[in-house]
Amino acid sequence: MNITFIGAGNVGAPLAARLADAGHEVVLAESKEGSTSVQAALARSTKLRAMPLAEAVARAEVVFLATPFGANEGVLRPIAAQLAGKVLVDCTNPVGKGLSHGLGSERSGSELVQSIALEAKVVKAFSIYGFENFEDPRYPGYDSKPVMLFCGDDRGAKAIVNDLIAQCGFEPFDVGGLVQALHLEHMTLLWVRLARAQGQGSGFVWSLLRRPTPSAS
Ligand SMILES: NC(=O)c1ccc[n+]([C@@H]2O[C@H](COP(=O)([O-])OP(=O)(O)OC[C@H]3O[C@@H](n4cnc5c(N)ncnc54)[C@H](OP(=O)(O)O)[C@@H]3O)[C@@H](O)[C@H]2O)c1
Repeated sequence: MNITFIGAGNVGAPLAARLADAGHEVVLAESKEGSTSVQAALARSTKLRAMPLAEAVARAEVVFLATPFGANEGVLRPIAAQLAGKVLVDCTNPVGKGLSHGLGSERSGSELVQSIALEAKVVKAFSIYGFENFEDPRYPGYDSKPVMLFCGDDRGAKAIVNDLIAQCGFEPFDVGGLVQALHLEHMTLLWVRLARAQGQGSGFVWSLLRRPTPSAS
């Protein structure tokens, strides 16, 4: 698929490299010339290319948004029309003072993103763990992969993101409509508080264990 990353920092760079390795045509959008994060991400993989933002979005079927949350509105407004009909993977998290929810837990960041990119197919994904787990999702010794919860309102878009999640080394788990994004954002805050504030480190993830459904007799 043609995939474009807006934001090639801690989160965007490892995911872009992984998806390029999986065989996708991955482009890093340059919002400004000579972006240090884009240059550093390009140095990770010869399979990645960079393009100016508008051109990079125009070619994409799937666009990853991996920018600081506060930058989202300024990034999205000028390209909102271009995003119509495209899958927009929102990796961003609104984080407020003292690791609280940045929008006062009244509305999710992803719903705000959707309200700007009105006709994009927004899927929240790759948001619930620190970037270290995007760099390396392997947990040797366990039978199950780290679970990646994701949500969105468009089924087709979620089927695409489901596959991209699996290609990045995670167990995809569709938790429902975009209304669930607020809860994913709180999950993120829980992970960040444990990992970074409590000092447990970044080397832990969540796992999904299911009992077989009892057959109807
Ligand atoms: N860090 C984590 O562990 C983690 C995990 C999951 C989700 N997240 C979320 O993912 C998002 C990105 O986090 P990050 O740690 O990857 O941030 P980061 O390392 O600071 O990277 C941010 C990227 O966004 C770009 N950017 C900044 N302002 C921009 C603008 N106005 N227009 C276009 N591009 C802009 C930067 O480009 P330049 O270098 O050119 O400024 C850079 O490529 C955040 O919303 C964060 O909450 C973070």
